[in-house]
Amino acid sequence: MRLEIKNVSKKYGRNKYGLKDFSIDIEKGILGLLGPNGAGKSTLLKMIATASKPTEGVIILNKNNIIKDANYMRKQLGFLPQDFGVYPNLNAFEFLQYIAALKGIADQNIKLKIEQLLYGLNLLDAAKKPIGSYSGGMKQRIGIAQTLLNDPKVVIFDEPTVGLDPEERVRFRNLISDLSQECIVILSSHIVSDIDTIADQVAIMKNGSLLSYDHQEKLIQLVDQKVFEVFIPKEQLVNFKNNNIVVSTARTEQKIAVRYISEIPIKGSIAQTPNLEDAYLYLTRMN
Ligand SMILES: Nc1ncnc2c1ncn2[C@@H]1O[C@H](COP(=O)(O)OP(=O)(O)OP(=O)(O)O)[C@@H](O)[C@H]1O
Ligand SMILES: [Mg+2]
Repeated sequence: MRLEIKNVSKKYGRNKYGLKDFSIDIEKGILGLLGPNGAGKSTLLKMIATASKPTEGVIILNKNNIIKDANYMRKQLGFLPQDFGVYPNLNAFEFLQYIAALKGIADQNIKLKIEQLLYGLNLLDAAKKPIGSYSGGMKQRIGIAQTLLNDPKVVIFDEPTVGLDPEERVRFRNLISDLSQECIVILSSHIVSDIDTIADQVAIMKNGSLLSYDHQEKLIQLVDQKVFEVFIPKEQLVNFKNNNIVVSTARTEQKIAVRYISEIPIKGSIAQTPNLEDAYLYLTRMN
């Protein structure tokens, strides 16, 4: 499996780009796509899923230009859009049968497949109730289930863990890890902890451009020796934030513990082991 995005742009208005001259080569495995709101994650994923077309550039899956031959992608695609809508009057089982029919899945075992997915996503108990009565997290899990109906080779999840509680996040993570090793799986988020335990590769984007793309460990090396903790008086925090990249703060009785990124630590700082969140903030704040 090989997905090549070559010099892709998406222009939304006269001077408004959702994505600008964006290139990335993706191979099998799990790719985490990180970026702040408006970075262009959904714009990119929709084009890969052939739900929208680039204004410039090409997208190639296994040597097939999917802008010209969208069906080549669609046949092997599972896609959870960010704004996934469901039909409130259908129950989970009916809904998945309906999507299977739309996708033209002529699998005799589709009922069994649906049951397995409902089980895997902890929805069996609710399968006979109308989706309109589901919680947000349950609806999201129905959206996840429909991506996997056709045993896809390319699976795209745009913000899959929104609305999921911690237990369901773990369940989702396990489900993704069980997907065939031969698949390309892309998941987007703006929350680092959603992807850091699951993604092999991480791409960080901002303002329609790719800031960095590498193994997690390589990205973390960017902030090696640059992450510190220091205790400062509360009234200094605003000023401190203006002059440093602050990752997090924790209140103590007297002072505030600040985790921050800097080339040169201020006096009294203690070096910290860097993580992906540090690298993410470093890259997105510096650019
Ligand atoms: N249909 C559209 N028309 C005009 N501008 C758009 C459209 N869709 C997206 N944009 C703009 O393109 C940019 C990228 O948007 P996109 O939705 O791809 O970002 P995102 O990374 O998915 O953000 P989020 O984390 O909020 O989902 C934003 O500036 C957005 O306002
Ligand atoms: Mg989005």
